[in-house]
Amino acid sequence: MTETDTLRERVAVELTRARERTLTLADAVDDHDLVRQHSPLMSPLVWDVAHVGNQEELWLVRDVGRREPVRADIDTMYDAFQHPRADRPALPLLDPTEARAYIRTVRDKALDVLGAEPLAGRRLTTDGFVFGLIVQHEQQHDETMLATHQLRTGPAVLDAPPPPAPDVPVDDRAEVVVPAGAFTMGTSVEPWALDNERPGHTVDLPAYAIDAVPVTNRRYAEFVADGGYDEPRWWTADGWAHRREAGLTMPMHWHGDGTATRFGRRTDLPPDEPVLHVCWYEAAAFAAWAGRRLPTEAEWEKAARWDPATGRSRRYPWGDDDPTARHANLGQRHLRPARVGAYPLGVSPLGVHQLVGDVWEWTATEFTGYPGFTVFPYREYSEVFFDRGYRVLRGGSFGTDPVACRGTFRNWDWPVRRQIFAGFRTARDVA
Ligand SMILES: [Fe+2]
Repeated sequence: MTETDTLRERVAVELTRARERTLTLADAVDDHDLVRQHSPLMSPLVWDVAHVGNQEELWLVRDVGRREPVRADIDTMYDAFQHPRADRPALPLLDPTEARAYIRTVRDKALDVLGAEPLAGRRLTTDGFVFGLIVQHEQQHDETMLATHQLRTGPAVLDAPPPPAPDVPVDDRAEVVVPAGAFTMGTSVEPWALDNERPGHTVDLPAYAIDAVPVTNRRYAEFVADGGYDEPRWWTADGWAHRREAGLTMPMHWHGDGTATRFGRRTDLPPDEPVLHVCWYEAAAFAAWAGRRLPTEAEWEKAARWDPATGRSRRYPWGDDDPTARHANLGQRHLRPARVGAYPLGVSPLGVHQLVGDVWEWTATEFTGYPGFTVFPYREYSEVFFDRGYRVLRGGSFGTDPVACRGTFRNWDWPVRRQIFAGFRTARDVA
């Protein structure tokens, strides 16, 4: 097989995996649940289904393949920038049967294009980049659809085995000191890295300490029990205003008795599991209460990628190999984070656990472009979100597919959002 054949095969496998997940998430509920809006924060599930097909049509079928449009008439309806999520249920959306047929037609054409086009000669197709972009886009919407499932009320429809348990308990107050010095942040070489992860550049950091594991339910419950939600001094001014206005008293989906609702089931919260469904303001307030702070994005990435033995930045905390089920809790194999210490093979060289998988981790940093950033392939992918007050999240969650998760991958959201699968860890300066 030629290198291009191997790449085509990989792309086809990834496209199929993403599609199986999309259909699993859609088929889990009936048509009524597919068209209804489960939260004003989310699209109806059937919008996500047709939207992933529409993006695939725009990029793979029309742009790369130069083929006739399948449904040019629906482009506007599925343009995320034209219609905020809250307005999407009122649109004349494709119904579930039409949406499934549409994405099947588009996929057939896209696979045809994949087989016919040289994956070289044009930056968009070199190394299969635009196919990787579409695969990651579908997987990102699958995570969004999973978050919609978590907001949905009614009987449970999703099931998964529990994540692995730690063989050796890890102290959830332990920290790791990262020595001062420069490291390479971002990447110029990862073929499917998105524009906002580029270019690789040197960042020099003073020494700092970072939590060895994400903040656990046990530690977060101490903050709640200590009156953390009643003490303005732990909160930023904006955070306190939001806490009051939104009436926040504990993480989303908690019941206050050591249980939480997860995908329609009320379950016990293991004390040593990473806390989930907190917004940036809650994460920052906890950190202040604990006498610490959120790590910056650069601190998170250095802890995750910097190898003190070689001075190199690696693709993942464990090295350069793609994630497997033994490295990290990714890919919706489980419907919850794993208890801390459950992935000893995923530990970074300095001894930091579970940086990748389990929960997205809020960082202190506002989303912006790296020095030397250039838009590729379009402004709306990331540049329009720079410097607007979005906060960066890192590392992916149990609901993030490995193809959409790297040591350099950047996610962002408003500091009030907590329907995403987000937790955090804390850091402090080291004199
Ligand atoms: Fe999208």
